[in-house]
Amino acid sequence: MTELPAFDAVPSLAQAFERHFSIGVALEASTLQEKGPLVARHFRRLTAENAMKFGEICPSTAGYTFTRADVIANFARAHAMPMTGHTLVWHRMTPSWLFETETGLSSRSSVEVNLRRHIFTMIQRYADVVDNWDVVNEALSDHPDKTWRDASEGSRWYSLFEGESYVARSFIDAAEAAAHFAPHVKLYYNDYNLEVPGKRRKAIEMVRTLRREGVRIDGVGIQGHINLKWPTKEDLVRAVEELAAEDLLVKISELDISVYSKDDPSGHSFECESASTPDLDRALADRYREVFTALRECSSRLTSVTLWGLSDRLSWLNYWPLKRKNYPLLFDAEDRPKAALLAVLGAAG
Ligand code: GLA
Repeated sequence: MTELPAFDAVPSLAQAFERHFSIGVALEASTLQEKGPLVARHFRRLTAENAMKFGEICPSTAGYTFTRADVIANFARAHAMPMTGHTLVWHRMTPSWLFETETGLSSRSSVEVNLRRHIFTMIQRYADVVDNWDVVNEALSDHPDKTWRDASEGSRWYSLFEGESYVARSFIDAAEAAAHFAPHVKLYYNDYNLEVPGKRRKAIEMVRTLRREGVRIDGVGIQGHINLKWPTKEDLVRAVEELAAEDLLVKISELDISVYSKDDPSGHSFECESASTPDLDRALADRYREVFTALRECSSRLTSVTLWGLSDRLSWLNYWPLKRKNYPLLFDAEDRPKAALLAVLGAAG
């Protein structure tokens, strides 16, 4: 096993890419308390991995618990890093009080009022530090014959609004809040699998329709939960370019590279856990080099690239789609720089 360098013995990742795009990381408040110097050295923007989600920040009708989100925002302020606000409207991690009262289901009008209050609260509170919000996350369906995520794919928003009108509603409220409190803030739609032409088409149609109706939407986030084999670098670049051609800001918002490329979620079959071997480490480094080289080539169309997690120790992919060790990030399970980090640094040009 070769010795891995310390995090401060390698050049700063964010600095290396400064000329191309800003590099961010998604994390929890506790990670900053533990690993602040590492974050400050290698990243230039932050996303709260969970702390700003509706169900986390406002879990009960008793009100907001801003503590964890504020720890992240204060670190960002202290280090002059902008944040991505993630996320105002999502079908997962909504608080149960929002859709259900003690006596039954909430009415649509009460949900609309609470949604608007939430959007205003969040945009106002973090106006000085958040430069872009994921207003709506994952509203599109993965099924080829359906545009919108409905109840069968877990969306209570879609059921309650009897259709997709909640998407426009959210962007309208967000634009109004931004006009009041954060005129500089950009409003994004964020989703995964936008590298797949069919799903990207739906996103483009959604943007065109919203804009035809006079609704403001500034950008689209390609999450970038990819793997060692998928997508090809050409498909990744095509996704960025087609979205940018719609006069949209484009970001890679949740990049990680799973080492498992043979999973078949529709057949419920998943690869067995593999150990972290030198071969796997090299394959991941090669793939990261390829991905960052591709992103660099279309950097004029990208606002930022955010890694979804600081290190392999902290990645959600150790638990999803099943409990299985994964090695998808640039720092290893002991938070040390991996060959993948050195490969990415080499791709900075
Ligand atoms: C989606 C969400 C993220 C995060 C990941 C898994 O991509 O946008 O907030 O929850 O799933 O961690």
